Amino acid sequence: MDSVRQDVPKSDPPARRERVPLPLRIGERYDYFTPLEPIAQGGMGTLFKIKIHRDDFVTPYILGHILSGDLSATLVGIHGRYLLHEPEFEEEVGRRIGAVDRRSFLFQRMLSELETREPRLVEAGWIAAAKVPRHEDAVATSRFLREVRSLHNMGDHPNIVKYISCGQVGERPVLITEYFPSMDLAERIAQAPVSAESSLRIFTAVLRALHHAHGKGILHRDVKPSNVLTDGDQIKITDFGLAKPLFPEVGRTQVTMADQIVGTPAYMAPEQADARLGAVGEWTDVYQLGITMFELVTRRPMYDEDEYRARLDRMPPDEVKDADPRRLILEEVQDRAREHPHFPRDFDPTLPDELEKLIMTACQKHILERYTCELALEHAEELLRNKVFAHAEPTLAPSEERKRESRTTLILSASEAMLARHAFAEAEAYERGLSLLGRAENESDVIALADLVEEAGKALARLPRAKFGVLHARHEALAKGLEGERDDIEAFRPNRKIALEIASGYEALLALIESERFFETPVSAIRSKASALRARAAQHLERVRRTGLPERIAGRWQRQLESILHELPRLDDTLAARKAAFIRKKKEELDRAIERNPNEAAMIVLTLRRALENADPGDWGRALLAEIERDYVPRLKLGES
Ligand SMILES: Nc1ncnc2c1ncn2[C@@H]1O[C@H](COP(=O)(O)OP(=O)(O)O)[C@@H](O)[C@H]1O
Ligand SMILES: [Mg+2]
Repeated sequence: MDSVRQDVPKSDPPARRERVPLPLRIGERYDYFTPLEPIAQGGMGTLFKIKIHRDDFVTPYILGHILSGDLSATLVGIHGRYLLHEPEFEEEVGRRIGAVDRRSFLFQRMLSELETREPRLVEAGWIAAAKVPRHEDAVATSRFLREVRSLHNMGDHPNIVKYISCGQVGERPVLITEYFPSMDLAERIAQAPVSAESSLRIFTAVLRALHHAHGKGILHRDVKPSNVLTDGDQIKITDFGLAKPLFPEVGRTQVTMADQIVGTPAYMAPEQADARLGAVGEWTDVYQLGITMFELVTRRPMYDEDEYRARLDRMPPDEVKDADPRRLILEEVQDRAREHPHFPRDFDPTLPDELEKLIMTACQKHILERYTCELALEHAEELLRNKVFAHAEPTLAPSEERKRESRTTLILSASEAMLARHAFAEAEAYERGLSLLGRAENESDVIALADLVEEAGKALARLPRAKFGVLHARHEALAKGLEGERDDIEAFRPNRKIALEIASGYEALLALIESERFFETPVSAIRSKASALRARAAQHLERVRRTGLPERIAGRWQRQLESILHELPRLDDTLAARKAAFIRKKKEELDRAIERNPNEAAMIVLTLRRALENADPGDWGRALLAEIERDYVPRLKLGES
């Protein structure tokens, strides 16, 4: 019988031979552990086999990061129950929370999380793996902390490298996980061919791991051969360095592409390369797994950087837009009109048809044609049970024809497509509900709050309570807060609408004064608009006061009207002063330019004319305008404007 165990001789993997100074010293006793030997250098981290020598692995600094979620930029530590701005724990704590509103929902939630969460106990004498970031900059650190946070929240799964603890050595955060003497799939592929059955087992195991992570609300986003480990028997995924909350509760930091390529393009899903092609979701991990599986069964990457580099070398130099082959790969991946360049059986015709389909459905470029994680798992497990590939026979059909046929059979059945659509719609409803709730929680205007709560309710109606309990609870808390106020809210609605109009009229005036062409705005126009607005605001303020509605509903608008009434009379003065300063400056520029640069001087004269003509009559501006027409214009041979 063929099994994964037979494929791989059990042996410790060779440490990689890249010459980068190790961030930790072998044999040195650090606070909680001693590094025994280096395991590997990844792209982001350096891994060590370590021995733990203390069992009170307390991790306040890092745990603070974890719990503060995306606020890690401002919150960097905890002390007792408090979150700190700065890592000096001995600092007086309670007052240092500063920027975070202690009453805010978020803060409350962090506190309750702190109270309920027990750091995992660690025993002295344990052998474990320690990962430290290779780079010490803020971006690397915050990405690393996200990895720590994801693993910390993961819970145990046989196919995911187990989280043990985290801590810090000097300035570096350290992630401690179980030590898994193994080889990653990149090494495994290089070593010897992997049988179809082993490949399918690996496929299934990784799907189980991903399915578990997704259930915990975590996306991996960096599934590739070097992040799947095997000891010939067990399979575990690792490296949640790019992981992202599937349904981020807090903020939404995107790993943006901009000009920089983040991640490994050869394994990137189209929607990762170009956000317009769809949201990143569970399906993204499935795609990456499909590409990884392709490589496992064919022993060559779907998108080989060397191949694309060679292609670039052959291109005429003026056709090369970017010398980076990864850019070329990205372009091809993004282009959904193009199929993937290879099918597994182009390389190995004896490969079971079913396995090829499984792999190619996993890496469909269109999200809706791609497997959901659940469905892929179901099909893979079924295949594993039936051992279809036991009687696989090489097909004789020519490659092109088979591909065409394969492509049509790859399209999901109607019910499967429904499933995919459902998952997609759910994710969208979640995002919408989440963002509305977030806004509602920060909304101080009760009516806007009521509207947001209602909108969020509609989005949440599409999300099952069993799976999205937290979100529903947040919504209920908000709705409860509004109970008993419905009538007052409705009563005040028309008043609020008028107050909003007045506020936007005021904003428009401000914008006019602050605009780039403010100097063309007649002061008199501002003056008359301001006085009309003032009359309206005064009248409405009276009306609002007379409603006698509670402060929570009307107070904010009353205060806003009062402040507008207070500010309005100053607007024309502000404009007049700005104009005067502008004109003085232009006049100085004119005096400087008139000798040296007649063209520039002519432009300045035109500007000054416009500014002065819109000044108030009788103003000093009139005199200046006359002076310009008399003394400057003739020297510039300027016609009438
Ligand atoms: N828990 C572990 N036990 C043993 N080896 C591991 C473990 N985790 C990772 N490795 C090895 O270290 C390599 C790099 O780890 P990884 O977490 O992927 O770092 P990076 O983020 O730098 O890619 C992996 O490809 C794997 O070979
Ligand atoms: Mg890795």
